[in-house]
Amino acid sequence: MPRERPIRELTRADIEGLHPEPMRIGIPHKSDLLLYRIRGEQVVLKGYGAKRGLCHRLLGLVCTTLEERALRALAGMEGVPQFRGRIDRCCLAVAHVPGRRARGSDPQLRGNEEFVRRLECIVQQMHARGVVHLDLRHRSNVRVAPDGQPIVLDFESALCFDPKWLVGRLAVRLLGKVDQLAVLKWQYRLCPHMLSDSQMRKARLLDRLSGWWTPHRFIRGLLDGPASRARELTGKRPVR
Ligand SMILES: Nc1ncnc2c1ncn2[C@@H]1O[C@H](COP(=O)(O)OP(=O)(O)O)[C@@H](O)[C@H]1O
Ligand SMILES: [Mg+2]
Repeated sequence: MPRERPIRELTRADIEGLHPEPMRIGIPHKSDLLLYRIRGEQVVLKGYGAKRGLCHRLLGLVCTTLEERALRALAGMEGVPQFRGRIDRCCLAVAHVPGRRARGSDPQLRGNEEFVRRLECIVQQMHARGVVHLDLRHRSNVRVAPDGQPIVLDFESALCFDPKWLVGRLAVRLLGKVDQLAVLKWQYRLCPHMLSDSQMRKARLLDRLSGWWTPHRFIRGLLDGPASRARELTGKRPVR
C-alpha cells in the first residue's frame, strides 16, 4: 500500500531570504500575519516576534503554544487549517486557507443550512479530538472555502484535553458548550428558521452579551485599555 510521505515541518531556515506579503502587521496585542510561498504552497506565518514589551511577548508565547497544541491535535481534519510548523517561540506557520470571511450578510450564506450543519459537524469532530475552540462566535474566525464549506480558524484561545480520560471528556463536554452556543449564534445569523423558540431566545441573549470572555480577548482588552483611550483622545491610531 502506498504510504503518505510525512510533510517536514517548516523552520526559520525555510523562510530566510523569502519576501512575504503582509496580511496584517502592527496591530498592538494581535499577531502579525505574513503570507509566504514556500515549496509551492501558500503559508501564513502568525507571530508576535515584533511586539515590544514583556506582556506582549508573554501573550504571544501563550497564544502560539495554545494554537500549536490545538492544530497538532486536529492534524489531517477537514475544516481547519493544517499546521506547518513552529517557527520560533512566538511564531507558527499554517497552510493558507483560500476563500473569504463568513458574514451574516453574505447572500450565499443566508439561509444556507448545509453551511451551518457542516460547521456543527466540524465542532463535533474537534470536540471528539479533545479540542475546544472557545472563540468561534467571532465572525473573522470562520472562513468560507471556495467550495462554499466553512473553515474554522484561529485556535489561540483553544484548549486541548485528552479524550481518553474521563476528566478530559468531562472538560470537553463542559467547555464545549461555549462552542455549541457559538454555532447557535451562527445559526441565528444565517438560518434563524432552523431554531426552536427556546433556541431563539438563547441566541438573542447571546447576541446581546458579546464581549470579553475568552482569556486572550480579556487580556487584550485590559492591555488595550490605555491604547484605545489614547486613540479616543487624539482621534489617531498610535504610531509604532
Ligand atoms: N491560514 C489562514 N488562511 C487564510 N486567512 C487567514 C489564515 N489565518 C488568518 N487569516 C486571516 O487573518 C485574520 C486574522 O487571523 P486570526 O487567526 O483569526 O487572528 P486573530 O487571533 O488576530 O483573530 C482571519 O480572520 C483571516 O482573515
Ligand atoms: Mg481571529
